[in-house]
Amino acid sequence: MDRRAFGCDGEPGPVARAQEIPPFLAMDVMSDAAALERAGRDVVHLEVGEPDWPVDEHVVEAATKALRDGRARYTVTEGLLPLREAIAARYHARYGVEVDPDRILVTMGASPAFFLAWGALLDEGDEVLIPDPHYACYPGQIAFLGGRPVRFPLDAARGYAFDFDALRARLGPRTRAILLNSPSNPTGTIASRAELDRLGGLGPWIVSDEIYHGVEYGAEPADTMLRHGDRVFVIDGCSKRWRMTGYRLGWIVLPPAFVRCARKIHQNYFLCAAEPAQLAALAALRGPQDSVTRMVEAYDRRRRVLVDGLRRLGFRIDYEPSGAFYVLAGAEHLGTDSVEIVRRILHETGVAVTPGADFGPSAARCLRFSYAAALERIEEGLRRLEPLGRR
Ligand SMILES: Cc1ncc(COP(=O)(O)O)c(C=O)c1O
Repeated sequence: MDRRAFGCDGEPGPVARAQEIPPFLAMDVMSDAAALERAGRDVVHLEVGEPDWPVDEHVVEAATKALRDGRARYTVTEGLLPLREAIAARYHARYGVEVDPDRILVTMGASPAFFLAWGALLDEGDEVLIPDPHYACYPGQIAFLGGRPVRFPLDAARGYAFDFDALRARLGPRTRAILLNSPSNPTGTIASRAELDRLGGLGPWIVSDEIYHGVEYGAEPADTMLRHGDRVFVIDGCSKRWRMTGYRLGWIVLPPAFVRCARKIHQNYFLCAAEPAQLAALAALRGPQDSVTRMVEAYDRRRRVLVDGLRRLGFRIDYEPSGAFYVLAGAEHLGTDSVEIVRRILHETGVAVTPGADFGPSAARCLRFSYAAALERIEEGLRRLEPLGRR
């Protein structure tokens, strides 16, 4: 009998590698919240990174027109050339870097771009250094493709700045890549240009997740890693700044030596990104950007309301986010198990938040709150949480 038809417990089922991939807890909470809503409860959604700001009309129009015009067919695997040219033009306009459109591969959201990067980079047992706290999915993505995630700590008291001694201490013969996510989910930090320079000089490949670029509240906006090294993969997309989460449209900028290989992986697993979504992304890139500015101004107000409100309720916030749209808050006053706390909060108050356990050991006693929700919903959520701390 074929051993591979059996799970790690010897029973027929998924193989160990598949069973061991960790869940994305924010999505699990979203499912639990949806079940409550089906039963008639009102839920305040502060769990997922889902912008409430509407998608621009010219973007919706481009997608609709594509469907009407029959432009919902296969495209070349790397994505439509005008779209890749518009992405390259954005790198030039925003950061002053030249990117050959042939180095760009258009994907179905940023998430599959990680599949391409890790798939092309990692041999069995290769290590990827990832910051802790980190976006929930990095460790599972890496391990699923045979790599080994190795965490390096970031300290809230130091503004989650890179600790290069801690980082260097973890570099070894199997270190293949370092993951950078700035602005960061869940911490909201923006890496400085000096930090990017030092990262670029360390030696391993840098995989830079730039999905929150443009969602910044501080003086210095995030810079692209492309300006700070040659051994760089950059991943970005339309989900956050243009709020196109359900369009599933992202991209990866590849080092030239990886282009052919990544295209082959993409051909085999994904074929191409949806054509209407590609045309909508083109409209988002070429169209006016004023709604992004207004959205970020609104997020900034929400950020301050949420941070102040959570502090009043007894949550510990050592670092105020300066990018993305999350607050990572210590919830020691509510217990020690963030998954359990989140379950209790959801059922008792109808507020959905994400357990810190999603973001690595250092966030295990925290909760993550998203302020991509409307201000009234954030205020309602804070009101509902009030009785919790008093017990
Ligand atoms: C840091 C980070 N990277 C990647 C993604 C995934 O983006 P996409 O929806 O484009 O796949 C998310 C989504 O929340 C994220 O927070």
